[in-house]
Formats: sequence, structure tokens, C-alpha cells
Amino acid sequence: MATAGEEVPNKRVVLKRYVTGFPTEDAMEVVTGTARLAVPPGSSAMVVKNLYVSCDPYMRGRMTKHDRPSYVPDFVVGEFALQMGDGSTFLLCTLSFSAWDLTILWPPLVQILQALVNFGVCKVVASGHPDFKVGDLVWGMTGWEEYTLVPKPESFSKINHPELPLSYYTGVLGAVGQIVGQLAKLTGCYVVGSAGSDEKVNLLKTKFGFDEAFNYKKEQDLDAALRRYFPEGIDIYFENVGGPTLEAVLNNMRNHGRIPVCGMISQYNLEQPEGVHNLFQVVAKRVRMEGFMVFDYFSKYYQFEEEMAGYLKEGKISYVEDIADGLEKAPAALIGLFTGRNIGKQLVAVARE
Ligand SMILES: NC(=O)c1ccc[n+]([C@@H]2O[C@H](COP(=O)([O-])OP(=O)(O)OC[C@H]3O[C@@H](n4cnc5c(N)ncnc54)[C@H](OP(=O)(O)O)[C@@H]3O)[C@@H](O)[C@H]2O)c1
Repeated sequence: MATAGEEVPNKRVVLKRYVTGFPTEDAMEVVTGTARLAVPPGSSAMVVKNLYVSCDPYMRGRMTKHDRPSYVPDFVVGEFALQMGDGSTFLLCTLSFSAWDLTILWPPLVQILQALVNFGVCKVVASGHPDFKVGDLVWGMTGWEEYTLVPKPESFSKINHPELPLSYYTGVLGAVGQIVGQLAKLTGCYVVGSAGSDEKVNLLKTKFGFDEAFNYKKEQDLDAALRRYFPEGIDIYFENVGGPTLEAVLNNMRNHGRIPVCGMISQYNLEQPEGVHNLFQVVAKRVRMEGFMVFDYFSKYYQFEEEMAGYLKEGKISYVEDIADGLEKAPAALIGLFTGRNIGKQLVAVARE
């Protein structure tokens, strides 16, 4: 076991090149660097050991090099630094392509291999921050690596319900579709789910208690399928998909229906997004559509944590996870979100302790 202050190997997943179109595993690589299990003297940083990291569709956007800044920063590819005699490094430049061989041609040039970042569940192994002590279990934005230096621990939250599986906190106590549908059931809605395999359809109806579910890949005519399940129209469509699904839904909305727009996964890998050709339905049916981001609601997090922990412990909400074991499996797990390979909340177990 690693001891405080020690320098240890640090396996991490890095982005080798920016992606256009559908991502492939070889855009990422698992490499080994080092990490020091100590914080710089006098700093209020902390070092965490990563236990579970979340795979999320929005990470695809961060794998693209944007000309105009996106709502979250692009991942960093290929930062090069000049290594001094004493081992310290001086950042030279950030390249928008991967030039691994440069470091072989000119040995003082070293590549800073920055791990992908996303939400994760971690254990504190060193801390200069008064609110976080060694051994605390926390969640927050961390690296896809074994150990991460967190310069601003204030952005992390403590795990207040360690009696629940720790991994549940990667989805901050929820993966979107399965939780939204179950919360809607708890508030008395008639709920219909759409999924891409018969196995998932069965899960929605049996495990999660949706009233109905259908396999959208088997439906020749989505518009007709929705008419079948909603003969009187749809009051609320929780939008996760976009494209032709949104079009079919708009045709089936009721007057004054509502569409909270959470994501549009069908569009994330397209170089040319598909158009939505019947937006006039928003006017004709007086539909209210509004996008939102999870980080706009962090102020309500503790309230939500308590509510969800209660539902999970009382068995009112079921939770299904798909756990990839080890960082080596992380690139495939991330790509799998876009082919529907995951069944339940996709995450990676970096270490189970
Ligand atoms: N606004 C926010 O703050 C926020 C936060 C988190 C997530 N989100 C969004 O919420 C949605 C769900 O995220 P999640 O993390 O819970 O992922 P998830 O649903 O566990 O995984 C992604 C699923 O999307 C489906 N999918 C993939 N490509 C598709 C396509 N072309 N058309 C239709 N379905 C497709 C697949 O299921 P099938 O087998 O059923 O196709 C896949 O399993 C995403 O749109 C994500 O961007 C938004």
C-alpha cells in the first residue's frame, strides 16, 4: 500500500487526438505517469485516490476541438513541456494533434499527459484543506487516473450516505432515463420509455415499473408508435435523444405540453446535425421547451441527495449500473454509450477500496 508523500505510478486515460464523427477507442490511450501522494507545502489542495469514475455522453463534445468555446472546455491533447535538469518542467505549447514521436527526437521535450476529467468517487489520501481529511470519501470532478491532485477541494462534496453503494455517487445518485421515469411514476404520471433493445425494454417495465416501453429500433414509424401509446397526446417529454425522435414527439404533444431538454445523444457524433422539420408544432400546440444543465442546480444538490437516498433505501427507486473494471476498459465503456452497449449507468471501477 502506498504511503503518504510517496511517488507512485499513476495510470491514466488520455486523449491522443481530437475526434470528428463517431469516436473510436484508439482516440484514447492508457498511459502510466507518476503521482506524488502529498500536497505542495502551504497549499489547500488535496490528493485523491479515484475509486469510480463516471462515463457520460457529454464527454464526446469535449473530445472535439471547438473553434468557438463550448459550454465545457475541450479536453487537452498533447501539451509539451521542456524538462530542466532538476526535473521541473516548463510548459511550451499545446498542440492540437498528437506528436508522440517528438519526445523521442528531442529528449528534453516531455509530454504532459493530462487525464480525461469527469465526475468520480474518491478517497482523500493527502490534504492541506481544513474541510477534508485523509480517509474522507468524496465525489467531484476528478481525473480518469488512479490519483488526482485537486487544487480546489471546495468543488468536492462529502459522501453523506456511505451505507449506499459508493458507485451510485458517480451518477450523483442517478443515471438520467431510469431515474427520471421512476420519479415520474412516483409523482403519478403514466410513463412510457423508449430504448434500443428488447432487454432494456423489459427492464424498464419489470425493474423500473414503467407503464409501457418500446424498442425504437424496431418501430418502422415512430410517429405511429407514439400515437399507439399516447392516443390523447403527450403532456411531458423528457428529451434525451433529439433528431427524428424529437420530430415524432412534437407531432404527438398535447396543447401546452412541456419538453425539458436534457440532452440529444443522437446528434453528438454527427458532423452535420439533423434538422427538426416540424418546429411549428411548438407554436401550434403552445409547447414549452427549455434546456437545462446539471450544474445550474448544484445549490439543490443536498436536498436531492437526501430525497434520493431515502427512495433508494426504501426500495421506491431501483438502480441499475454497468461497471467496467479497470481504466484499461474505460475507452471502450465510453464509446459503448453511443452504440447502446451499456445497460444502466455506465461507470468505471478504478479501484474498489
Ligand atoms: N443537461 C445535463 O446536465 C445532462 C446531464 C447528464 C446527462 N445528460 C444527457 O442525458 C442523456 C442520457 O445520459 P446518460 O448519462 O443517462 O446516458 P445513458 O442513457 O446511460 O447512455 C446512453 C444511451 O443512449 C442511447 N443512445 C445512444 N445513441 C443513441 C441514438 N443515436 N439514438 C437514441 N439513443 C441513443 C443508448 O441506449 P439505447 O440502447 O436505448 O439506444 C445508450 O445506452 C444524454 O443525452 C446526456 O447527454 C444531460
